[in-house]
Amino acid sequence: MKIAVSGKGGTGKTTIASLVLRYLLLKNFKPILAVDADPNSNFGDALGVKVESTVGKVLDGFLKDKESLPMGVVKESLIDYKLSEILVEEKGFDLISMGQGEGPGCYCYPNTIIRNYIEKLASNYKHVVIDNEAGMEHISRRTNGSLDALLLVSDPSMKGIRTCKKLENLVNELGLNIKKIFLLINRVTHEPPPQIMEEVKRLNLNLLEIIPEDENVVDHELKGIPMLNLEESSPSVIKIREALTKVFL
Ligand SMILES: Nc1ncnc2c1ncn2[C@@H]1O[C@H](COP(=O)(O)OP(=O)(O)O)[C@@H](O)[C@H]1O
Ligand SMILES: [Mg+2]
Repeated sequence: MKIAVSGKGGTGKTTIASLVLRYLLLKNFKPILAVDADPNSNFGDALGVKVESTVGKVLDGFLKDKESLPMGVVKESLIDYKLSEILVEEKGFDLISMGQGEGPGCYCYPNTIIRNYIEKLASNYKHVVIDNEAGMEHISRRTNGSLDALLLVSDPSMKGIRTCKKLENLVNELGLNIKKIFLLINRVTHEPPPQIMEEVKRLNLNLLEIIPEDENVVDHELKGIPMLNLEESSPSVIKIREALTKVFL
């Protein structure tokens, strides 16, 4: 299953993506590929994985000495090889970080290679979890746009909920092949305000679960402990488990 997490910045995408990965690991749904598709990435931190390099950095290297590179297939396999080197292998899952290219120049050609590479890479795994940036374009650009489930994350704010609707509309406009789109409202203390629930209903969003504000998440973040280490009894872990049980039905 290929699952991506999207939504407005700071709503909890990376945290939720980590909890999704945690669930899959616990269920022994292996092997898993984790993709950090956010240029301001910190999926690695949340998973407790040290990331040395990113796809963006590899591309920069190639674009810098473009002239001296061989042509065609050789160049392509060279890039493939370089990309395979930045894959971090962990127990039960691998992580690849997209990062961002720094240099100027046209990225069209390398982007095609990246798309092919990520697609090829993803096909080796039983499950893929993608931590996205707030936009949606990269899904079509980098990962072929096909997903089993897209989890849209919002905080309990009108702005967050409406951003999720915009993302859903964008998916439809781009004609992406996404089987199911769900909404998760994250960091909720007690209950979401009634106005929020009315807006969710009005916009016809498919609410999967409400994830509580979890002091253990706050504590782990402060102490730099990976989200994979959260206790099974943590409120957010319990709710993500309930949510994913419905997704994996
Ligand atoms: N359910 C939650 N309870 C408490 N804190 C949370 C929860 N979800 C996320 N956070 C915190 O909110 C902040 C933003 O979360 P993050 O996952 O980095 O968001 P995003 O990836 O969308 O930018 C982080 O400090 C994170 O620890
Ligand atoms: Mg993030």
